[in-house]
Amino acid sequence: MPIDLGAALAWEKASADEKRMLEDLQGNILKGHGREHTQNIFFHIDAKESAEGRNFIRSISGWVKSGYRQLDEAKKYRLYRQDAGAFVGLMLSASGYAALGIPDDQIPADEAFRSGLKKRQDLLNDPKVKAWDEGFQAEIHGMILIGGLDESQVRKTRRNILKIKPESVTILGVETGLAMKNKNGDGIEHFGYVDGRSQPLLLVEDINREATDNGGIDIWDPTFPLKQVLVPCPGGLLKELSFGSYFVFRKLEQNVKGFKDKEAAIADEFGLSGDEEELAGALIVGRFEDGTPVILQKTDKLIDPVPNNFDFSGDTQGNKCPFHSHIRKTNPRGDSVREFGATFGVTLEAERSHIMARRGITYGARNTKIDADGQIIELKDKPIGGVGLLFMAYQSDIANQFEFTQVSWANSPQFVKDDAGIDPVIGQGQNPTSQQQPVKWGEEAKKTIDFQGFVSMKGGEYFFAPSISFLKNL
Ligand code: HEM
Repeated sequence: MPIDLGAALAWEKASADEKRMLEDLQGNILKGHGREHTQNIFFHIDAKESAEGRNFIRSISGWVKSGYRQLDEAKKYRLYRQDAGAFVGLMLSASGYAALGIPDDQIPADEAFRSGLKKRQDLLNDPKVKAWDEGFQAEIHGMILIGGLDESQVRKTRRNILKIKPESVTILGVETGLAMKNKNGDGIEHFGYVDGRSQPLLLVEDINREATDNGGIDIWDPTFPLKQVLVPCPGGLLKELSFGSYFVFRKLEQNVKGFKDKEAAIADEFGLSGDEEELAGALIVGRFEDGTPVILQKTDKLIDPVPNNFDFSGDTQGNKCPFHSHIRKTNPRGDSVREFGATFGVTLEAERSHIMARRGITYGARNTKIDADGQIIELKDKPIGGVGLLFMAYQSDIANQFEFTQVSWANSPQFVKDDAGIDPVIGQGQNPTSQQQPVKWGEEAKKTIDFQGFVSMKGGEYFFAPSISFLKNL
């Protein structure tokens, strides 16, 4: 095998085979494209006109940015501020492959992918499809992802792409992403918390930077092998060098007022004030708004750089960072080995196999106070809807990564201990379940809270991001 999927990749020292692999792989998979303005365009292909559909996709493939080009351009941007233009990615759903008339042996095999997100509703405890936004209720065959430096770059790229769209391809909906940054320049989500800090790092250059400049990697090692996100692309033309990645898209609406009111009520109930007022939310998310991990201290401002080199081994009772907190649920950093290793043989490698590469972006406009650099100093309004997260994640196995995280960790009140409760941010429980919050940070006594229901799923789909040679050869 010319590509070692069992290790991270040093792209700047890529061998000839690795470079060819990266040139055939879509960008955004091994590292985020980094653009702050995006659009996701969802489309349907008339199966009776599959040749037109294939022609359309083949034409778009010229815009699709390869992993190699993305990395090379990002390096030049860092060095010379040279704008690399828009990012374009293209994904197909299983029904999309079928509508294009692709033979079965060229359709990615993942079972969850083949069944599609709509059929996983019971497993995931998702709302009924009838309650999803209208565009998502139809059969979605594909998605074009455009990222740009500004809105006009995205719109211009979209216009050019849609100019060549035949009538037999219908646009079902467009989601517009708009990143938000706090005054430290860190990305935030609509509840106000730094997001996107903890990622599996798949490139040796990123891992080295994390080790030397970003807080170290000796406690939590963010190094992940390529196989975390890559699988061979059936139908790719480069023998043993064509890869793709499964891609989960979910539109998650956030009720900011509900979340913030509940946070304030809990701060009151637990008598948190002054420096500790922010603790209520930090115990829910696992990090303070500025990114400070609550496992490390009971106040914020540990942000330069925002730490990620930590685990929960010193907090086996959830006295500092509760078991239900969003980041402890979605990355237990060894908790499940300690709790289930002896009885069920859970290893750190098995636990880490569930991690995915998150590439989400916030959507919806907010009333903000900004500084001279345009960074957000204050989120002034508290919308109850119309804002949220376009959750996107790449992985090599949807059941073992996204679905396992959502179902067996976030939605399960018994993970990682019997009375942990569901994830208060994304947990979707059948019955309300309460969580155990420490009465005082670092102390054993707990009090029950009931925190959930502020994120609603509005629709989505499972996709595959095929190799560029597959797209070009359609
Ligand atoms: C509107 C919905 C969501 C919000 C507001 C949200 C918010 C956050 C925040 C604030 C962080 C901390 C920043 C960081 O460590 O990178 C985080 C981390 C994370 N989230 Fe979410 N998230 C949402 C949806 C999801 C979903 C659907 C999943 C997966 C099923 C997920 C999985 C993760 C993971 C794996 C981490 C990193 C944990 C770590 O490695 O420490 N999130 N999220």
